Amino acid sequence: MPATKPSLMNHLNNNFANLTPVGIREFDAKASAVPGIVKLTLGEPDFNVPDAMKQAAINSIKNNDSHYAPGVGTAALRKAIAHFFLNDRYQLDYDPDGEIAVTIGATQGIYAALSALINPGDEILIATPTFPLYMAITTILGGKVVEIDTSDNDFVLTPAKLKETIAAHPSAKALILNYPSNPTGVTYSSSQVEALAGAVKDTDLVVIADEIYSELVYDGQHTSIAKFIPDQTLIINGASKSHAMTGYRIGFIAGPKQLMGPVSAISGMMITSATDSAMAAATAAFGTEAGHQATLKMKEAYQERRDFLVGALHKLGFDLATPHGAFYVFAKIPNSAGNDDVAFATKLAEKGRVAVIPGSYFGAGGQGFLRLSYATSMDNLKLAVDRIAEFLKED
Ligand SMILES: Cc1ncc(COP(=O)(O)O)c(C=O)c1O
Repeated sequence: MPATKPSLMNHLNNNFANLTPVGIREFDAKASAVPGIVKLTLGEPDFNVPDAMKQAAINSIKNNDSHYAPGVGTAALRKAIAHFFLNDRYQLDYDPDGEIAVTIGATQGIYAALSALINPGDEILIATPTFPLYMAITTILGGKVVEIDTSDNDFVLTPAKLKETIAAHPSAKALILNYPSNPTGVTYSSSQVEALAGAVKDTDLVVIADEIYSELVYDGQHTSIAKFIPDQTLIINGASKSHAMTGYRIGFIAGPKQLMGPVSAISGMMITSATDSAMAAATAAFGTEAGHQATLKMKEAYQERRDFLVGALHKLGFDLATPHGAFYVFAKIPNSAGNDDVAFATKLAEKGRVAVIPGSYFGAGGQGFLRLSYATSMDNLKLAVDRIAEFLKED
């Protein structure tokens, strides 16, 4: 195996050195070594891909769909996204030709959107605690992360706080919002979204709205911020969470045509195109009634688990923001345990045999909290709760 020529290590992208390592997968890997551990760690649906989507992928392979697709994705998938998903579900109007680009998961959509915007030193406002990838991509592209800590308001960003941040950073390029939120499960009502839109509409901020959990809202309806400020919003979404298709790697970006021009061009340079068979499966996911029904069935199961976990954690004395969406609970560690979430989660894994993710991995405001993912079976959740109860008694 070749060793790297040592001097080459001085040639790396300098921004890479500024990256705070994303600890989620490392923590999960370490915890996995504990025999018999119950894991509430990863943000990945535990369901299999629904049959209709699998069949669409199989048909695509059998039909020899094995050539370069358009860089923005197949016309069939873009139409399904525009008409059956964005329009039917969220009353949004996007032209499949020029206003939608299919990406390799939401992840690459976020990368393409930020790549199109960031010049070195540009500030990107990010409401935290949040999915750490936004901070990592911003940093690697030479941008500056400005965290907006929402922990003083149960992880809900208020228009007042947003305006205050904008006033302090008047030349910021973009605002990244993610709701329903990873890691808190918090989401926004239509009037809250409208108020946030009101706070940015007279600015030149591009809003990157990561709405990947939009189909998993348990109380009320998801409203996209694009409904109020479509001219300055890039929506990120995809099939990973709604259809348990994480491994198929299909996401998309939707936005106004002039902004989507450079975003789509950059995305195309990164990927050439998404995979044919995965796009066929996503067309079935977003464009058919079977796809919609499959989501509803999974959502029902998540909701039952959420109700169980929230109730059980309350009984054990945990404080938590009520999670109305996604599949996470963000719980404060007991006061008696201090504020060190990494130490608490490590001990809970080693002694209590339950793995959760320390809240401080998700940015400002996350310290002292734990993220519990309920994308796992009810049996696992029950076992986890029993073990946490036991751990708290002994500790
Ligand atoms: C908020 C958020 N955005 C994006 C992603 C990545 O989605 P994908 O698998 O489609 O790249 C995740 C995955 O956990 C997420 O939680």
